Amino acid sequence: MSDLSRRKFLRAAAVGAAVTPACSVAPAAAAPSVRVRRQSPIAVASSNGLEAVRIAVERMQAGMRPVDAAVAGVEVVENDPNDNSVGLGGLPNERGIVTLDSCVMDGPSGLGGAVAHLQNIKNPAQVALKVMRHTDHVLLVAEGALEFARAHGFREQDLLTDASRKIWLEWLEKRSSVDDWISPEENGEHGTEWFQKYKDKTGTIHLGAVDANGDVGSCTTTSGLAFKLNGRVGDSPLLGCGNYCDNDVGTGGSTGRGEACILVNGAAFTVHQMALGKSPTDACLETVKRVARMTRVARLLDAKGRPDFQVKFYATDKRGRAGAAAMYPGKFAVCDDSGPRLEDLAALFDSRD
Ligand code: GLY
Repeated sequence: MSDLSRRKFLRAAAVGAAVTPACSVAPAAAAPSVRVRRQSPIAVASSNGLEAVRIAVERMQAGMRPVDAAVAGVEVVENDPNDNSVGLGGLPNERGIVTLDSCVMDGPSGLGGAVAHLQNIKNPAQVALKVMRHTDHVLLVAEGALEFARAHGFREQDLLTDASRKIWLEWLEKRSSVDDWISPEENGEHGTEWFQKYKDKTGTIHLGAVDANGDVGSCTTTSGLAFKLNGRVGDSPLLGCGNYCDNDVGTGGSTGRGEACILVNGAAFTVHQMALGKSPTDACLETVKRVARMTRVARLLDAKGRPDFQVKFYATDKRGRAGAAAMYPGKFAVCDDSGPRLEDLAALFDSRD
């Protein structure tokens, strides 16, 4: 027996032993999958995903699997140098390095793949898809993720555009008066309007997809929090946090302050709320409420005691319904047989005032 077939044989024997009941009680029957009648494919995404949801639905209508359709949809945003929260042109970390995070999940197989702190590859969602399909792992990080991407033929390029580099330099110059970086204004020159705009800047695209058979797939991809500490990873590459799906229930995902989402396992919590019977919108709202309840330290609260940040959750269910909710008002993208559109999401608080 070759090493490989021997390994497979031993593994199969071990699995067999593990599932053989120690007593004569018959194993419980597997819960039947929920089947749905054929419906229009539907995709939900963050508001920067209007074109992405259109592409995802078009691909599903042509028979593409939801997870592949989700990755095909987000690719346009990853490739867009003008979206400075995702892929090419994403704002860098505090050292001026663009690092990307992404994960994908496939409902029918229950498998997922992810990459974190990936540099020089503009389509991390496609690398995450390869991790899911070509390895026995779920998450690859940093140099290991890059080596894996290289092995699969992904092309390396500098992801820092001139526009993103200028924003990073301005941030360096303006963030502190006690270092040696000086802004033109401090030297008496006319400067550009700025700073609050990029403080706590997060972006990201999440896309959840349901096809005509009610099979689901999902993807989240981002350059993460602008000017983050080197090594910081947000919720986007973490299955259960920035993205999750369950083929018997639906999809969930998030954008916004990743730290808040990680601390409540936002995407998995959203999907679990739908499994308990909530609609996609109500499930997202429950997750937002959980974030608000779990946010307790003063530095993260505003004068009214509300979370001083935005976080958004998106969901679809197997029946082809979509919804989204956030801490504060905003929009989300959705596409079904009526075409792509932006809609208001449900907000826990009416305004940030
Ligand atoms: N939600 C994206 C991030 O915080 O990195």
